[in-house]
Amino acid sequence: MQNQKQLFDLPDEIHYLNGAYMSPNLKAVEQAGIDGVKRKTNPTSIKENDFFEPAEEVKNLFGELINASAQQIAFIPSASYGLMNAIRNVAVKNGQHAITVNEEFPSDHLTLRKFCKEHNADLKVIKPPRIIKGRTQAWTEKIISSINEETAVVVMSSIHWMEGLKFDLQAIGEKCRATNTYFIVDGTQSVGALPMDVEKFKIDALICASYKWLLGPYSTGLAYYSEKFNEGEPIEYSWMTRKDGHDFSKLTAYPEDFAGGAMRYNVGEFSNFIALPMIKSALEQILKWGPHNIQTYCFDLLRPLRSYLEEKNIEKDDDEFVSAHLYGLFVPENVNLSNLMDDLKAHDIHLSARGNVIRISPHVYNDSQNINALLEILAEHF
Ligand SMILES: Cc1ncc(COP(=O)(O)O)c(C=O)c1O
Repeated sequence: MQNQKQLFDLPDEIHYLNGAYMSPNLKAVEQAGIDGVKRKTNPTSIKENDFFEPAEEVKNLFGELINASAQQIAFIPSASYGLMNAIRNVAVKNGQHAITVNEEFPSDHLTLRKFCKEHNADLKVIKPPRIIKGRTQAWTEKIISSINEETAVVVMSSIHWMEGLKFDLQAIGEKCRATNTYFIVDGTQSVGALPMDVEKFKIDALICASYKWLLGPYSTGLAYYSEKFNEGEPIEYSWMTRKDGHDFSKLTAYPEDFAGGAMRYNVGEFSNFIALPMIKSALEQILKWGPHNIQTYCFDLLRPLRSYLEEKNIEKDDDEFVSAHLYGLFVPENVNLSNLMDDLKAHDIHLSARGNVIRISPHVYNDSQNINALLEILAEHF
């Protein structure tokens, strides 16, 4: 795959390695948003079927990306919203506990903490082993061995949002299935840039904000809820999620029955006339590239960085266990992280630090110049 910078409008002088913070707009996504804003200038351009049909198209595209039926997909305004929809429908027995991983993203941790308080359940936070090489596999094993018949639910990100580690989702999903444990995955930091398959990984709910690796707008997201959730209780009681919701002549018959699949979990006003065309355009482009190819592109791009770390004897986990679009670099202890971050900023190199890890998060708009610029600064610090 070739560099795709021409499809974006990133200024030439900046080195943007911060997709984990927020993706830049594709030009096509920006245009779709502008067109969306303009539509309401003349409301006659918005027809009754525009409240439903464009949403179905987006669900189909997202379903293709994650290997799920469009029926089981819903629009959410944030990951926290999508997580709450899922957790409030998790069946729990007396004495059961919940599991998450250390330093999980707050929307996940706090949602699970509320669930535990409500059900008087223990929250088990699985800590990483105190190693860097071999960390991902050992951590995955710790997670798997903590799951048993007493586990009501596991909530975790598809990759660690700070370290970029690729947990073995398939092995965790299989253990969850074998122990009747709900497996809720926050895909915000990987879906779109790394292959995802909810069937293969036996995921019960997959929650994704769209403004990072789905290249979509802020305040929009997509979630998958498996058939297990089809009779559950949604957060909202919108007219739009009902069986006859699309029949404007029957609105005041107040139909109570929800439409099938995951329709009940959609946020109210899900047919957002600005955001939906943007996310549609982004998904079409992602599917054209293919997440596997995006990952390979980023992996190749980071070769000089990994060689540099090897030369300097800086510990890292084996390459196959660290995602290439969100590469967590453990900064050596003797390095002043705050000076390093200031220096990077002064050279227009944009990335984020979380804990003692810096997240280098490239995409197909990056090229070797960006990585060389980063290496030049790193070399001044370690
Ligand atoms: C793993 C993960 N999940 C979710 C989010 C966003 O959460 P929310 O949509 O609740 O603001 C982020 C943002 O950094 C994240 O890293």
